[in-house]
Amino acid sequence: MSQLKNFFDASAVAIIGASNTPGKIGYAILRNMLDCGYPGRIYPINPRDKEILGLAAYPSLAALPEKVDLAVISVPARMVLPVARECGEHGVKHLVTITAGFKELGKEGLEAEKELINICRQYGMRNLGPNCAGMMDTHVPINTSFAKGFPLKGDIAFYSQSGAMMIAILDWSRSIGLGFSKVVSLGNKADLSEIDFIEEAADDPYTRVILCYIEDVMDGARFLEVVGRATRKKPVIILKSGTSQAGALAASSHTGALAGSDLAYDTAFKQCGVIRARSMTELFDLAIAFSQCPVPRGDKVAIVTNSGGPGIITTDNVELKGLQMSRFTKETLDELRAGLPPEAGIYNPVDVLGDAKTDRYRFALEKVCSDPNTDSVVLLMCPTAVTEPVETSRALIEMRDRYPDKPFLAAYMGGGSLQEGAEMLARAGIPCFTFPEPGINAIKELVNYGKFKDTPPSGDELAFPDVDKRAVKAIFYDVVKDNRLVLLGSEAYDVARAYGIPAAPIVLATSPEEAVEEAEKMGYPVVMKVASPKILHKTDVGGVKVGLQNADQVRSAFVEIMENVTRLMPQAVVYGIEVQKMMPRGNELIIGMTRDVQFGPMIGCGLGGIYVNLLKDVSFRLARGLNRREIEAMLMETKAYTLLRGYRGEQPSDIPALVEAIARVARLVLDFPEITEMDINPVFTYPSGLSALDVKITISLS
Ligand code: COA
Repeated sequence: MSQLKNFFDASAVAIIGASNTPGKIGYAILRNMLDCGYPGRIYPINPRDKEILGLAAYPSLAALPEKVDLAVISVPARMVLPVARECGEHGVKHLVTITAGFKELGKEGLEAEKELINICRQYGMRNLGPNCAGMMDTHVPINTSFAKGFPLKGDIAFYSQSGAMMIAILDWSRSIGLGFSKVVSLGNKADLSEIDFIEEAADDPYTRVILCYIEDVMDGARFLEVVGRATRKKPVIILKSGTSQAGALAASSHTGALAGSDLAYDTAFKQCGVIRARSMTELFDLAIAFSQCPVPRGDKVAIVTNSGGPGIITTDNVELKGLQMSRFTKETLDELRAGLPPEAGIYNPVDVLGDAKTDRYRFALEKVCSDPNTDSVVLLMCPTAVTEPVETSRALIEMRDRYPDKPFLAAYMGGGSLQEGAEMLARAGIPCFTFPEPGINAIKELVNYGKFKDTPPSGDELAFPDVDKRAVKAIFYDVVKDNRLVLLGSEAYDVARAYGIPAAPIVLATSPEEAVEEAEKMGYPVVMKVASPKILHKTDVGGVKVGLQNADQVRSAFVEIMENVTRLMPQAVVYGIEVQKMMPRGNELIIGMTRDVQFGPMIGCGLGGIYVNLLKDVSFRLARGLNRREIEAMLMETKAYTLLRGYRGEQPSDIPALVEAIARVARLVLDFPEITEMDINPVFTYPSGLSALDVKITISLS
């Protein structure tokens, strides 16, 4: 449940630092509050002036005739803490702190920012900023920002970690007639962040699409939970910058953002249903499409064009994006054939030819729209001497009104001669682009969002009552006591076993006789490997023997390995020789884990063996909130999946067993944050079951 009641619709607002001097931020904010038609009471607070912009001004909150819900702070940084305290004493519920000079400046600023939040906590206030450009709501209306102008009313909520970007977008949006429900500059996100606003907007009746520009997420776990809920109600489209190393560095000096890996963001967004935009252009193209189009029933696209080339380009793009071209029914084709000139293309794309006027476009549109195999409609237009952009736009609008459950998009490929028609579409709520690709991309995202919403959320699927946490704790305790952080193979095997991850048995032997005893217990053939934390590449020092069939071979392998290692790495401490049951070959996979600073453990799976780095066929998911469906989706993204399903007559692997093993690895790394790295490579998968051959675990001291 959102805690932002009375934030946007505060009944009284104090502007602390309001000023009579044009050009000052405190002046601009008050001007904006007055100009936007805010219906509540506005109280300028200024120690000197008695009146500002025609309103009575007060020296302090204590002098006000009533309590205010919201205070906008625009005083120099050194004054912010005492002012915030004064707000707390007065009973203010929410602060919008415009002032810069906090975390983004470094250590000292960070301390002041922490103190600001301490004060807020002490008095139960919530804070937007500091270092922000304010917020607006067009439906209240309220404008606590110092931006120039006010957005048009609309149904897109936009949250931006960059105040400047917010201000620029506002200016641009008015020029193209794009409206917003709310616009918020997030600033340093010391308290309120995009997560809180997304939560609020998910239940806001005036918001249809949620849009964000962010540089980081500061609470990965909460983001996944809250945003994962919001996306089930409304589309959430996010542009996350800092994907390059240089960009990440720039983000950290901009708002002090500490970004995790881009892969983790990608995975997190995918898992909680966020639509990720890759550029500002895409962010707003998608925003327009999602706010104006319904989610289509399916992925079949019909194209009506007056030019062959663009029709082909768009068809290519439909396929590239994984969408389908509508295959019209015989009835539709017959009607198109009968009603269009013989040279026209009647199969999708429907080419009404360069000399088409509105009547031909309308006829073709009518036929393709009524075809049961059309889920979305794209109209392409090139300006020939006879095209009628305005009339054709009107026809498209009529058609959209007759088929409100289908997305209609257009690409008017030209300039001035198409402008009036394009503007008519924009006003009527039909996305109109200059070229077709953004429209097709938007349809793809609409289709994907529809699929996401149709998939019911799953409950917690990582609850395994049979795991033995205490056994794992004890192993880690012994490893640390031994001054190590990397587990021996036998220790890692014990960890895997405690969590029900099927692994090939492996035991440490300290003498040839003990090795024989263990080999007899597990059964031949066996593999023997030197156990030493200092030896990473065991084969290189003659530390591995495979395919040992009997006691004699085991005994001599023990001696031979010891001799090899003593000769080649005399300084290495050797714990003994590990004896492992030699498993039959299966498909070779890898299951791995890395940790992200924001989102926690990430599980990867794909083609394993020695070519992992070369083939890079690994797909990832966050361990948090993982479920079997997501694990399967992760596997399906890899080439390894083709092998698992039985490539070229091979028997298929036991995919459910692999899914189960991955889920158990996820449980393990969630239960033990001290596991910093974990790799199982290879995992052999069989028609029935699987076996982890080499489990590598590294822990930290905490
Ligand atoms: N209570 C009320 N008013 C106070 C006050 C207090 N405790 N202390 C000072 N004021 C008044 C000042 O008297 C002044 O009013 P005046 O013009 O009538 O003299 C007004 O508040 C502003 O103070 P001033 O010292 O003139 O500061 P400023 O306007 O030059 O700068 C900020 C204040 C907040 C704008 C500036 O510190 C700042 O942070 N700028 C950057 C903002 C920014 O970029 N944010 C991020 C956007 S993305």
